[in-house]
Parts: sequence; C-alpha cells; structure tokens
Amino acid sequence: MIDYRKITTKDPLYTQLCELREAVLLRPLGKDMAWFRDRYRQVDDHAEFFVAVIDHPSGQRVVGGVLLVPDYPDPGVGKLVQMAVDPQRQGEGIGRRLVIELESRAFGEIGLREVFCHAQDTAIGFYERLGWQTDPVEFQEAGIPHHRMWIAQPADAKTQPTTA
Ligand SMILES: CC(C)(COP(=O)(O)OP(=O)(O)OC[C@H]1O[C@@H](n2cnc3c(N)ncnc32)[C@H](O)[C@@H]1OP(=O)(O)O)[C@@H](O)C(=O)NCCC(=O)NCCS
Repeated sequence: MIDYRKITTKDPLYTQLCELREAVLLRPLGKDMAWFRDRYRQVDDHAEFFVAVIDHPSGQRVVGGVLLVPDYPDPGVGKLVQMAVDPQRQGEGIGRRLVIELESRAFGEIGLREVFCHAQDTAIGFYERLGWQTDPVEFQEAGIPHHRMWIAQPADAKTQPTTA
C-alpha cells in the first residue's frame, strides 16, 4: 500500500526525498542537491513537500515526491517543482496522485488561484493528462527544453485559507 503525506524538512523521510530528487532529476543533468540549493536558494526553505511512501522490509521508503512553493512569485500563485517518481514505480499512478494531493492543498486549503510549473518537454504529456495547460513558448532551463504549464483553481474548490 502506498501512503501519501505532506512532510517537513525535519522529517527523516526528507533525506530520502532529496536522494530521490537527485537520482531522478538532478544526476541525469550532471547536478546534485548542493547545486540545486545553491541555484534555487528559496525553494526548500519555503516549499511544502508531498511524498509517496511504501513499507519496505528495511523500513519506510519514499518512491515519489513533489514540492509546492506557495505564493511564488506572487501572492495567490504557487509553483510545482521537483516532481519525481522512482523509475521502478513509474506508470502506476503515483505521479498523478501526488499532483492531486498538491492541488488539493494549493486550491482547497491555501486558496491559491493558480499553480504553474516549468515542465521538461518529456513530461508535458503527463501534466496534460491531469488537465494542465501548456504555454507555447519553449525555453531552456538547466540545458534542456521546457514549457511553462499551469492549472487554475477549479470553480468548485473550497477555499479555506489556513491560519497556521
Ligand atoms: C513524469 C513522472 C513524474 C510521471 O509519474 P508517474 O507516476 O510515472 O505517472 P502516472 O503513472 O501517475 O501517470 C499518469 C498519466 O500520465 C501519463 N504519463 C506519465 N508520464 C508521462 C509522460 N512522460 N508523457 C506522457 N504521458 C505520461 C500516464 O500514461 C498516465 O496516463 P493515463 O491518464 O492514461 O493513466 C515520472 O515518470 C517521472 O518521475 N519522470 C522522470 C522525472 C520527470 O520527468 N519529472 C517531471 C519534470 S517536469
């Protein structure tokens, strides 16, 4: 069974999430978490972390994760970053469920009006399956082609801004 939860940087699973981000997203580009922290200083300080966790004989294991940076770059807007699923578990619906968790938090609890991301071109189809829209302008980030994608707050989202 896969458990979906929101964690903080203090959770022991955060280290595993960083290892997954490195393996799936950064190492293929010749980068690591030190590079990411240096280049995107604000992200891990301000993000909310969503993980997919399985029980493994050796303990709990993070098999997927994604970050939401709320109110970035403007109030009411959020950015989805570092979407990654363990290669051995891709195609099982884990990525979809993580984005649903993130959207539920973004729109239903925080009350954001839009969430966007910079999608690698190879992942555009994934976000489109989830109802995201694609800006036609291609740009390079970390040396590979990307497009800006976004989803607006659904009309029926319950906006219950948190006070915490
Ligand atoms: C892209 C990624 C997050 C998708 O996660 P996943 O758990 O494998 O995806 P899911 O199983 O939830 O797929 C949901 C749907 O998207 C489709 N899909 C998944 N990856 C896709 C891709 N790269 N291109 C097109 N469609 C894709 C699936 O077929 C499925 O379609 P369905 O609605 O017909 O069932 C994962 O493959 C991954 O980590 N890739 C490497 C890192 C990466 O590209 N991250 C995104 C950077 S912007």
